Amino acid sequence: MKYYILFGPPGAGKGTQATSLRENYHLCHLSTGELLRGEIAAGTPLGLEAKALIDAGNLVPDAVVEGMIESKFNTVKDVEGFLLDGFPRTTAQAEALEGMLQRRGEKVTGVISIMIPDAMIKDRIRHRATIEGRADDAKDEVIEKRIATYHAKTEPLIDFYKARGQYHEVDGTGTIPEVAARLAALMAKLS
Ligand code: AP5
Ligand code: MG
Repeated sequence: MKYYILFGPPGAGKGTQATSLRENYHLCHLSTGELLRGEIAAGTPLGLEAKALIDAGNLVPDAVVEGMIESKFNTVKDVEGFLLDGFPRTTAQAEALEGMLQRRGEKVTGVISIMIPDAMIKDRIRHRATIEGRADDAKDEVIEKRIATYHAKTEPLIDFYKARGQYHEVDGTGTIPEVAARLAALMAKLS
């Protein structure tokens, strides 16, 4: 099984690019953000706990997302691998993922990082706010908080995965097809 991590700041284009990667490589796309929004929409206790944190631009507890991911690893069949989008997001989550994969005799195939500057993050998220209506896209201060959370808690994973020789980055600026072409070239090297 392949285990790809689609990495990058909020609004970098992870969800956008995941669609073709999922189809071209027969992967299960697992976005922890989408899974959490599903729990909120269904009104589950987990969703209720997560909503306040997400709406304020904070992360939900590590154990919550780790449990979601492991349960998918245990139940999803008939795919050639997983495309993790928005997970791991803290060093503790990255270590938990290593443990989960070790127990399965597997390891991370590669981290695919889509990188854009902070100013572009804001533009893209403000644009998406007019289309998708995500609560965490609606307020500038929440967007700022998500960017700050990314720099403080998630960016250290770049060095974590560089140290393991698993980190690969593409330029996320330019059009959606331009970024897709860069990702396709990278995937050809990884798979
Ligand atoms: P999550 O849903 O993962 O949000 P995020 O990381 O903030 O990322 P986004 O979904 O905002 O961005 P994206 O990279 O997918 O961009 P997209 O393709 O949509 O997480 C939400 C929240 O859940 C977190 O804040 C946290 O609270 C919680 N959470 C999730 N995972 C967690 C975890 N592991 N641990 C703890 N908490 C967790 O693109 C953005 C916009 O730009 C779109 O409108 C798109 O059409 C457009 N666009 C994309 N590419 C281009 C391009 N090349 N040119 C022009 N426009 C483009
Ligand atoms: Mg997304």
